[in-house]
Amino acid sequence: MSVTIRGPLRDALAFVAPFRERSRRFREAPGEAKPRGHVAELAEALHPAGLALRIVSVRDESPTTSTYRLAPSDGSARLPPFRAGQYLSVFVEAGGARASRPYSISSTPDESAGGGYYELTVKDAPGGFCAPIIRETWEPGSTVRCSGPSGVFYREPLRDGDSLVCLAGGCGVTPFRSIVGDALARGKARVALIHGAAEPAELLFSDYFGELAKRYPDRFSYLPVVERDGPAGAWTGERGYITAALIERAATWADDAAFFVSGPDAMRRFALGELAGLDRPPRRVRLEAAPARFSPEDWPGYPPEAASRTFTLEARIGPETVSIPAAAEEPLLVAMERAGLRPPSLCRAGECGWCRSRLVEGRCYSPPGPGARAADERYGFVHPCKAFPLSNCSIDVPEDPDR
Ligand code: FES
Repeated sequence: MSVTIRGPLRDALAFVAPFRERSRRFREAPGEAKPRGHVAELAEALHPAGLALRIVSVRDESPTTSTYRLAPSDGSARLPPFRAGQYLSVFVEAGGARASRPYSISSTPDESAGGGYYELTVKDAPGGFCAPIIRETWEPGSTVRCSGPSGVFYREPLRDGDSLVCLAGGCGVTPFRSIVGDALARGKARVALIHGAAEPAELLFSDYFGELAKRYPDRFSYLPVVERDGPAGAWTGERGYITAALIERAATWADDAAFFVSGPDAMRRFALGELAGLDRPPRRVRLEAAPARFSPEDWPGYPPEAASRTFTLEARIGPETVSIPAAAEEPLLVAMERAGLRPPSLCRAGECGWCRSRLVEGRCYSPPGPGARAADERYGFVHPCKAFPLSNCSIDVPEDPDR
């Protein structure tokens, strides 16, 4: 290819003709939208905003946890593809309020291909809103509404390489059923999984991981660890927490590994501390996004006088503007859902940007960590899923696309 330089003025003038042509096309463009082309249809099939899925079967994993197998409700063989580790956001309604919760897909991408299915594993937690409804009302044959697969907690071989150490706490192991199965099935990845749980009955998928350890003895090691023995008192394995010593023992080859961490807040904090002690660079650590919990004692700069107060939130969604109470200890998203509004949401962790709203008036606190964006604050935007009110607030919320 050759480039001819004609001089600064003549080169600059060469841009005038394309700009004129662009302006002409804008002027003469028809008013109607173009008919949808096959590219738009393909994009929608691959990345749908919403899905209607039929429950094919339910499998109990433990007294408090069930796995739901989901297939397309229209009988078609096509499910949108996903990356192992991604989630579906599930919509649940009760008493006039609608809420969503992200649940990791616990089946592998291969299991969803060609007439396959997704599986979601749901644990009932005390004080939860969605999980009890799901466990009580979801049964084979019923239809549920979910988002398309979303999320960035997946292995990217170019970035993460072929050595993977997965640290899971409690039911935070659900994305690893997919990630580990997928990484072992395709290629040469070497994987270690350490799963910490309160007691042996909560070691979800232990049979599955045990089978994988037998099938791939050179490439997969599985190390379950429990805090205390169960009622049967028969546990002979590891006890305690996911310590640096345990990590080094499970993955002696892990010098250049990528670390994936998923579990409750306390477990994540502990595991990250242990990894820091092992001198693992933060860029090699991937954290599963988790909803922000009200914990002002850990939040730098949080004004203690705001805690325990209830403010007024004026929320404008489309043509509707409503004033509702907003407790200091709940994100604005929850306040809106409690009031029966339908704000958009996917990850509920400040990560996806789906709920991004304009803060017209008032002050909010957005905890540091994944999903905190300085630019949003500077330009007057908040993520209601991760914004706790510090005063009366007024926000402009985007409308939820119909799901
Ligand atoms: S729901 Fe994802 S950023 Fe708020």
